[in-house]
Amino acid sequence: MIPFPKEQDGLMRQTVYYIEGDGIGPEIWRASRPVLDAAVEKAYGQERRLDWRELLAGEKALAETGQLLPEESLRALRGARYAIKGPLATPVGAGFRSLNVILRQTLDLYACIRPIRYFRGVVSPLRHPEKVDMVVFRENTEDLYTGIEFQSCSPEAKRLIAFLRDELGVEVADGAGIGIKPMTEAGSRRLVRRAIGYARETGRPSVTLMHKGNIMKYTEGAFRAWGYAVAREEFPDVCVTEGEAREGKILVTDVIADALFQSALLYPERFSVIAAPNLNGDYLSDALAAQVGGLGMAPGVNMSDTLAFYEATHGTAPDNAGRDRANPCSFLLSGAMMLENMGWTEASRRIESAVETVIARGAVTADLAVQRERATTVGCRRFGELLVEALT
Ligand code: NAI
Repeated sequence: MIPFPKEQDGLMRQTVYYIEGDGIGPEIWRASRPVLDAAVEKAYGQERRLDWRELLAGEKALAETGQLLPEESLRALRGARYAIKGPLATPVGAGFRSLNVILRQTLDLYACIRPIRYFRGVVSPLRHPEKVDMVVFRENTEDLYTGIEFQSCSPEAKRLIAFLRDELGVEVADGAGIGIKPMTEAGSRRLVRRAIGYARETGRPSVTLMHKGNIMKYTEGAFRAWGYAVAREEFPDVCVTEGEAREGKILVTDVIADALFQSALLYPERFSVIAAPNLNGDYLSDALAAQVGGLGMAPGVNMSDTLAFYEATHGTAPDNAGRDRANPCSFLLSGAMMLENMGWTEASRRIESAVETVIARGAVTADLAVQRERATTVGCRRFGELLVEALT
């Protein structure tokens, strides 16, 4: 279970804000919501209920309010505890910055948490996908994602290059575009703290710090050093490092980013919780998702200290939008994570089991069907119906 302040027992209704999202967002939402509601009902009868409240963002918000991210939505999210969203579109190279990044930074959603586990029946490029059981904790607010960038030959880039050359004695080619990669001790520590806390709470055996500190010593290297400092100073009774006696404690170790990509493919069983800076974590979580059926199967949550904001980890899939072809599982399994986090574990477990059952029977959405023989392709809506029927 993702660590977060525990729900008070006896609270029967839980408010969840939702954003449908762009592209395939509305389709996966419409397929998933009935499954989430039915799972809660199956598990708890009328005793518990999700109280859904829509917030506008993205294209729907633009059409209805003239704004992509209305202040009203942000205000509600600032006071919320649980929210879930579909994907939001971002144009490449020009136009507004990513709404997702704005949401993460504005709401200080510093930890992006993505569990990667295998569902029986999903075709995987691995020989033993059942060995994949990892949770990636990706730092979400710092690193190159802060978006401090200056275009090639812009006055700002020229000034910066002159400053670097004249004041710091560093040569940068004229005409270079420049990006800045800020990473702080506080930002790194809180992410690693959360990852180790999660490992402790869930009985996971190790936390791996992923970094490229051999090259970027004062950013990624510092992430590694601060990560070990958190383990040593804040979890002295819980963690050990390489070479120390394990005795049931959490092994905190570090692996250089490129090597980790290889090892996670060859030896997935060696990794349990992985803590990574923003960009590494972004690449890694998609690559790991591919081991277990791709982005359509990968759930995730972005967390601040007060808000858990679940999201489908894929994008708007414009090639599939409006065609009733999308796989709703990423969104749905994010919802199942949310239920678990609320302490509604029984409902969450039923959803995971229904996903496993329906996939094993072989009636799946196109993205999963193309990967396997003898599968029946069903649309997003039908897939959702089959999941409701499979709930026990
Ligand atoms: P994408 O994830 O939308 O699509 C990549 C490929 O995966 C496409 O072929 C797509 O059809 C397929 N795919 C993705 N989700 C699927 C699903 N649930 N079922 C079946 N197939 C699925 O990535 P892309 O094309 O790079 O981005 C499209 C847009 O989405 C961009 O505007 C991008 O900025 C945005 N985006 C938003 C994210 C978010 O809101 N968290 C995350 C990633 C991208």
